[in-house]
Amino acid sequence: MESLQDRVVVITGASAGIGRATAQELIGAGARVVLGARRRERLEAIEAEHPGRAIAVEMDVRVPADSQRLVATAIERFGRVDALVANAGIGMYGGILDNTDAELETMLDTNVAGTVWPIRAAVPAMIDAGAGDIVIVASVAGFRGGADEAVYAATKFAQVGLAGALDRELREQGIRVTTIGPAGTSTEFAMGAGRTEDMPELKTYLQPEDIAFAIRTVLEQPRRLRTQYWTIWSMAQGS
Ligand SMILES: NC(=O)c1ccc[n+]([C@@H]2O[C@H](COP(=O)([O-])OP(=O)(O)OC[C@H]3O[C@@H](n4cnc5c(N)ncnc54)[C@H](OP(=O)(O)O)[C@@H]3O)[C@@H](O)[C@H]2O)c1
Repeated sequence: MESLQDRVVVITGASAGIGRATAQELIGAGARVVLGARRRERLEAIEAEHPGRAIAVEMDVRVPADSQRLVATAIERFGRVDALVANAGIGMYGGILDNTDAELETMLDTNVAGTVWPIRAAVPAMIDAGAGDIVIVASVAGFRGGADEAVYAATKFAQVGLAGALDRELREQGIRVTTIGPAGTSTEFAMGAGRTEDMPELKTYLQPEDIAFAIRTVLEQPRRLRTQYWTIWSMAQGS
């Protein structure tokens, strides 16, 4: 196991859900984190809890310059970037005709381009260092599309394809690329799809802390190992 003590991890989508839980988990393991998302006040609340170990950066993953600023902040304030957790994402469910063009454009841009821009920003520092970790939070929907989530699944398949290609491109430079594929997880995202808190299947859902644990485990692997794909279900969830 490699210690996370003082390692510098950039996390997108850190203001809520899986990203926020990951920030807390990694800080607890000794890491320093740079937190990106649009809701600054939520990021600042985490920063205030962990002075000197967490930095809030208001940013939008759809904007390439924002990702450059996020990574530049890590380098200016902490001197390096050891890992990127590309986690920011949105989901919209419904049949192929159910969402507006604008809604689908936003999801495609956030989930696909919004994964590419932070990676392009972080890779040069990792190449210079000869080591790094890129963890992409995709979904089980990126391995098998389900009904009423076709475009969401397409964005998650895109992340899986990106990760596989990057693994082949960057491994020899010491950069590990891992895809985490959570099943349904109890976050604002899960509740935002027309569900209500009393729906029985929500009781079977993973907790964001379960995914944070997986991300920590991936980052703590000895550097001679890499995990390419890790799909995660609760024991109560059928696959
Ligand atoms: N929950 C599930 O059931 C589930 C299952 C499988 C995979 N996932 C994946 O897990 C990831 C995290 O989702 P979650 O469940 O934790 O959802 P969440 O609680 O809604 O959190 C989503 C995060 O993404 C950020 N975000 C969204 N659009 C952004 C943008 N344009 N720029 C910057 N940040 C943005 C949000 O921050 P701001 O709004 O503050 O910008 C928030 O921090 C997503 O990629 C999702 O597809 C979730």
